Amino acid sequence: MSVTQEAVLAALRQVQEPELHKDLVSLNMIRDLRIEGGEVSFTIVLTTPACPLRSRIESEARAAVSAIPGVQNVAIKMDASVPSDGRARGLLSLPIRNAIAIASGKGGVGKSTVAVNVAVELAQSGARVGLLDADIYGPNIPTMMGVQRLPPATKDKLIPAEAYGVKLMSIGFLVNPNQPLIWRGPMLHSAIRQFLSDVVWGELDYLIVDLPPGTGDAALSLAQSLPLSGGVIVTLPQQVSLEDARRSLEMFRQLDVPILGVVENMSYLELPDGSRLDVFGSGGGERLAQEAKVPFLGSIPIEPAVRQGGDSGQPVIIARPDLPVAQALRQIAQKIAAGLSVAALQQNNAIPIKIVG
Ligand SMILES: Nc1ncnc2c1ncn2[C@@H]1O[C@H](COP(=O)(O)OP(=O)(O)O)[C@@H](O)[C@H]1O
Ligand SMILES: [Mg+2]
Repeated sequence: MSVTQEAVLAALRQVQEPELHKDLVSLNMIRDLRIEGGEVSFTIVLTTPACPLRSRIESEARAAVSAIPGVQNVAIKMDASVPSDGRARGLLSLPIRNAIAIASGKGGVGKSTVAVNVAVELAQSGARVGLLDADIYGPNIPTMMGVQRLPPATKDKLIPAEAYGVKLMSIGFLVNPNQPLIWRGPMLHSAIRQFLSDVVWGELDYLIVDLPPGTGDAALSLAQSLPLSGGVIVTLPQQVSLEDARRSLEMFRQLDVPILGVVENMSYLELPDGSRLDVFGSGGGERLAQEAKVPFLGSIPIEPAVRQGGDSGQPVIIARPDLPVAQALRQIAQKIAAGLSVAALQQNNAIPIKIVG
């Protein structure tokens, strides 16, 4: 009995993408389907290379197709193509599929730490990632990424630095480190223009933007002028931090930026005996997310290696990938990527994939 394309696609219609809650065929994720006698081969194109469920999807697809009578062998190639919700695309004609702002109510809560580790994780998973340090008051991402300066610029464009597979641009590269940063409207606008149109970003799946803390002029004009596909809010668990975080949530709402979720940082300290000390209280970030009806993206423990990694230019997920804190940061990055896939799918102009063969 010969295996037909219809039979293979019918089998793959039984396999769900767990995050997007649709089957692989409806999502146009199957490519290059080839059938030669009992040999079936195809590619599954995920919506992000940072998909934690890729091996589950692969094995379910394999099981479904192997069950078709006559199939002797199934060869599956896994690939990814990150969709865009269309907001980011086209602005200043930049080929950036998703721009994600990381915001916080105040400084010192770990906004840059989250931005750096999320960017590095997405890049390590195989995505094309840019990191824009737009915190005009405290641009310390170059230090955290171990980069001192930009490569030489071309005649009219800035070339981003690169570290851990991430393209990096920082306002810190453009100003004298010892000079106070006093920003006025026109300067801010020219900085934003420089960040976007004067930088050779190339094609990016994700541009992670570290915003200035708070909801003052600087954060607001940046959030407004960047083509954001989503916003993430970083908070500590305690009440005062949550109050400020709520204002950041409101800022995104007013600017009509989809909120990808809340991250709670410095949630607890693990003691040598294995018990947990809630230094800043606990559960506040999750409650805030619930109240605001936005996703909770995860809690990050207090871990000295995070601070060491930041100061030494080696993000903790690179320096200490074995630690629970690295695991927490990886999961947050994966949830952000999944949230963007879902948002893009809901916008309906998503998945740029067609079935062939
Ligand atoms: N979970 C954590 N455990 C330990 N130190 C942390 C943690 N998160 C952040 N830090 C440290 O706290 C300081 C402030 O974090 P940072 O990311 O610079 O905050 P922000 O960008 O919000 O000002 C940095 O020295 C950083 O390394
Ligand atoms: Mg910072």
